[in-house]
Amino acid sequence: MSLWIYPGSFDPVTVGHMNIIERAASLSGRLIVAVLRNTGRSPIFTMEERLELLRLATSGIPGVTVESFGGLLAEYARLRGASAVVRGVRRASDYEYETQMALMNRRINPGMDTIFLPAEPAYAPLSSTVVRDVGMLGGDLTGLVPDAILDRVQKKLRAMN
Ligand code: PNS
Repeated sequence: MSLWIYPGSFDPVTVGHMNIIERAASLSGRLIVAVLRNTGRSPIFTMEERLELLRLATSGIPGVTVESFGGLLAEYARLRGASAVVRGVRRASDYEYETQMALMNRRINPGMDTIFLPAEPAYAPLSSTVVRDVGMLGGDLTGLVPDAILDRVQKKLRAMN
């Protein structure tokens, strides 16, 4: 059994993220879903909301915990004793950006590696940005975010329009 970290903004968590979480947790045995604190972007969902939504969505998946992190991902992984970071890759442009991050992270922390999981084709067009846009314009988010958090996400985004 190993410990992996799945980092991201999760603003909010989507079914695409959930697919990566399930696959990564079953491969590693233990997975920390880590929400970035110090992002330059201003998130729509507060840190508390994003943690709570992730906890609700992942409560039935064995080996998964949810927490926040700040600073360098590679240092955080070292602190937690994680052997790998996992990232979902949807298209070629993701791969280019992710490779650069993976190489830099490995330079900072040679004790960890990055695992890329290809997104299932059904989830390739999905992102938190798309979910926010559709939700704010009153669209139905069924099938885009986990059922356990659908009402909360839908209500918050509709209220923002
Ligand atoms: O969901 P996102 O926004 O694509 O996640 C990006 C994330 C959190 C993985 C990335 O921004 C990150 O690792 N930030 C932590 C700061 C850091 O370590 N930066 C150097 C990377 S080379």
